[in-house]
Amino acid sequence: MTILQVENLSKDFGGLRVLENITFSLAAGSVVGLIGPNGAGKSTLVNLIAGADRPTGGEILFASRRLAGLPAWRVARLGLARTFQITRVFTDLSLGDNIRLAAWTRGLRGKGLEAEVRRLADLTELSDKIAKPSRDLTLADQKRLQLARALALKPKLLLLDEVMAGLNPSELDRAIQLLAKLRNEGITMLVIEHLMRVIMNISDRVLVLHQGSLIADGPPAEVVASSQVQEAYLGRRYVQNR
Ligand SMILES: Nc1ncnc2c1ncn2[C@@H]1O[C@H](COP(=O)(O)OP(=O)(O)OP(=O)(O)O)[C@@H](O)[C@H]1O
Ligand SMILES: [Mg+2]
Repeated sequence: MTILQVENLSKDFGGLRVLENITFSLAAGSVVGLIGPNGAGKSTLVNLIAGADRPTGGEILFASRRLAGLPAWRVARLGLARTFQITRVFTDLSLGDNIRLAAWTRGLRGKGLEAEVRRLADLTELSDKIAKPSRDLTLADQKRLQLARALALKPKLLLLDEVMAGLNPSELDRAIQLLAKLRNEGITMLVIEHLMRVIMNISDRVLVLHQGSLIADGPPAEVVASSQVQEAYLGRRYVQNR
């Protein structure tokens, strides 16, 4: 079953075409990696799908509903959550309150709300920091908190924009395990990431954006073997060192 269908999507900023006729679909329950050089248009694509920005042309269908043009809050209510490339949490609030606020938005109150806050803190391994002011959290913890907040919306589809950037190797291992856990819960994910170790580890399929166009879409091993992808993004070293 297809949960997300993107058809001929394009986006111009002023006179600059940033996305050109992007077409792909995501199967429900799948984890799809989205890679490409800086400036390729990855975050722009996520912004369009999440309703943060309007496409210049094309269609986005989520569970067969047309999304293009819907505001972000309506898109979120339909079950589509995202994280931001630049970590966004409410630094004046405690970690627990950050999660509580997101779950409250979904309509939870009272005991149900508290149980959900505990479940999400537990899932993202943040339980011991629940009372901590968010500004005192490490980058790795802030990234997990961002994920917990996105999960509080009970998404069917999660768009992750470089949630692992800046993590050290052991934090990275934990983050990969966490995504594996989410996949086991059946959450469909579109994962933007520059770290190929992460992409190869978690993706069923990989999409490659280059200068606003989709240049590859297929199984990870096939995509990294493509000479076009190697030239545009990975470089020869990646293949030699694999
Ligand atoms: N609001 C905007 N106004 C004008 N140009 C923009 C805007 N947002 C993005 N761009 C341009 O669109 C292009 C794609 O940017 P985007 O942020 O989507 O790339 P990206 O693939 O996410 O890159 P990175 O890997 O560095 O995060 C870039 O040339 C960027 O400068
Ligand atoms: Mg980006």
